[in-house]
Amino acid sequence: MKIMVVGGGGREHTLIWALKKSPKVTEIFALPGNGGIAKDATCVNIGAKDIEGITKFAKENAIDFAVVAPDDPLVLGAVDALHAIGIPCFGPNKAAAIIEGSKAFSKDLMAKYNIPTATYKIFNDAEKALEYSKTQSLPMVIKADGLALGKGVIIAASHEEAEEAIRSMMIDKQFGDSGNEIVIEEFLTGPEVSVLCFTDGKTVRPMVSSMDHKRAGDNDTGLNTGGMGTVAPNPCYTKEIAEVCMETIFLPTIRAMEKEGRPFKGCLYFGLMITPNGPKVIEYNCRFGDPETQVVLPLLDTDLLEIMLAVEEERLADLEISWKDGSACCVILASKGYPQSYEKGFVITVDEDALKEGQEIFHAGTALNENGEVVTSGGRVLGVTAIAPTLEEAIGKAYRATEGIHFENKYMRSDIGQRALRGN
Ligand code: AMP
Ligand code: GLY
Repeated sequence: MKIMVVGGGGREHTLIWALKKSPKVTEIFALPGNGGIAKDATCVNIGAKDIEGITKFAKENAIDFAVVAPDDPLVLGAVDALHAIGIPCFGPNKAAAIIEGSKAFSKDLMAKYNIPTATYKIFNDAEKALEYSKTQSLPMVIKADGLALGKGVIIAASHEEAEEAIRSMMIDKQFGDSGNEIVIEEFLTGPEVSVLCFTDGKTVRPMVSSMDHKRAGDNDTGLNTGGMGTVAPNPCYTKEIAEVCMETIFLPTIRAMEKEGRPFKGCLYFGLMITPNGPKVIEYNCRFGDPETQVVLPLLDTDLLEIMLAVEEERLADLEISWKDGSACCVILASKGYPQSYEKGFVITVDEDALKEGQEIFHAGTALNENGEVVTSGGRVLGVTAIAPTLEEAIGKAYRATEGIHFENKYMRSDIGQRALRGN
């Protein structure tokens, strides 16, 4: 089968790495891909938001199956456009992708169907939001309604900070139209868990759980990033908690989307917080997480393409999905300065003996220069993943692999997985 994967980051490299193992796959195209993906797939210079370009390419190249990985094209309706020309896809349609595309929608959905989440109020009037914020206890959480590159959430420690956040989102339009509406919600506490689930709209199959590390610096300090590293499974996510999540969160969400006439097919990502009052939803994403995918898929034993086909054909209930025992750790190698300004274009070299069995490099922000060398081209450059029988070994093995990878301004956190080892 000829496969097309839309996107060009570490998540997409991992998806392609996993899809390549399927005996059914004959060729993979990545739109646009990146410098490392170019070794595993044919990269085509079409942007992930160029829906017209994507559908035209799929038609002209007789693509058999498409995987739309990033949030933007999903929210813009890439899956609808591909279905309209008869191309089967993995990913939710536009009506279902709204679960990530609008925080106001997802909060109202949870309220309507009694799915546990932080209490909240939605505003489309800045003055009313400012007034309300003055009455709320601290810290308080302020979220832009729409997509904001993972930067649309402010945890305000003071009422002045809350006011500033509301003004920048609703009046100064820091995130454009994404800030037309905002959500002000209760601050929750507890360990965070990411659970990615395969779902065909009826059956839901959770993948192994994971833990992201969103802050740029060690000990969760510094600015929020797209994610500086991950581990899987997440030790805070016990079997008992998993059962509660299935009954109170996963199944109710899938059923709610079906009742709303927006059946969700694809990967639904539950960002959860295990609060003293039980697990609650922090956010939904309509796609695989990045860098969660880099630790979850290496633990998958079942053929990924078979699962994706079962999702598209709505026969997930008939499929067994199996996972490897053991743990995975992914350490992100970033460009110094990320998530703010950083330099690009540095050549990346990997020592010949840098990687052993169970260690992988997934490319995120890389490109090929005119000499065919792989160079840095983004904030998050590489994800270095290792799998091992225990979490502790996986962490050590991932960090050992980073030692053999070189580029100027290489930056990483040194404590990925330490919270998980401590169990918080
Ligand atoms: P999001 O972009 O929705 O994933 O939010 C970014 C981060 O903000 C989350 O990973 C949490 O750490 C934090 N966060 C979001 N909502 C809340 C909340 N209601 N209470 C506490 N922390 C939150
Ligand atoms: N790692 C968080 C996300 O993919 O949204």
